[in-house]
Amino acid sequence: MVAVAEVQTAHTADLDAATLKAVRALLDDVFGGMTGQDWEHALGGVHALVWEGAELIGHASVIQRRLLNGGRALRTGYVEAVGVRADRRGRRHGAAMMDALEQVVRGAYQLGALRASDAAEAFYAARDWKLWQGPSFALTPAGITRTLEKDGCIYVLPMEVSLDLSSELVCDWRDGDPW
Ligand SMILES: CC(C)(COP(=O)(O)OP(=O)(O)OC[C@H]1O[C@@H](n2cnc3c(N)ncnc32)[C@H](O)[C@@H]1OP(=O)(O)O)[C@@H](O)C(=O)NCCC(=O)NCCS
Repeated sequence: MVAVAEVQTAHTADLDAATLKAVRALLDDVFGGMTGQDWEHALGGVHALVWEGAELIGHASVIQRRLLNGGRALRTGYVEAVGVRADRRGRRHGAAMMDALEQVVRGAYQLGALRASDAAEAFYAARDWKLWQGPSFALTPAGITRTLEKDGCIYVLPMEVSLDLSSELVCDWRDGDPW
């Protein structure tokens, strides 16, 4: 019998310590360990959690960032920490989490953005996320710095703002990986 899975959305503030611990354990498992900074990047926004009973089998979150493009500081819903437990993949849990988070992005932000792993690029592309084709940068404490190694893996969910996907895109600063 296939267990029924349910998607819960909640702000970080509404998740108790045990749930956050389960999220961290799932992400450590999915990504083969994640840094404290990567973990911190997934917090402070809205989480989509997939539960099979009391067992957490999927997680993704969207947090607010500013991406600079064409002289604008776009209020951006940045998707982080997307993962489904290996033995539960291919059952549309990833799609269900992204449905929930894209609804948040469309309702609250000017733009959606994420950095895709090589393995997941086609997953996002099939959902109408567009590959950013222009050069990427980060707004570091030392000034705007090129992030060449991130070119070709940043995806955006365009909405009402006009975007030239071949132009420069700059992310705000944070500890750890800027994108
Ligand atoms: C990427 C991931 C979250 C997808 O979750 P999932 O539950 O297996 O995906 P779904 O079953 O919802 O798939 C939805 C659709 O995307 C497709 N798809 C899923 N993973 C895909 C991939 N890696 N590449 C291409 N297509 C993919 C499915 O075939 C399905 O297509 P359909 O709509 O034609 O049926 C999951 O594979 C995962 O956790 N991967 C490891 C961690 C990772 O790379 N996360 C992304 C970090 S940016």
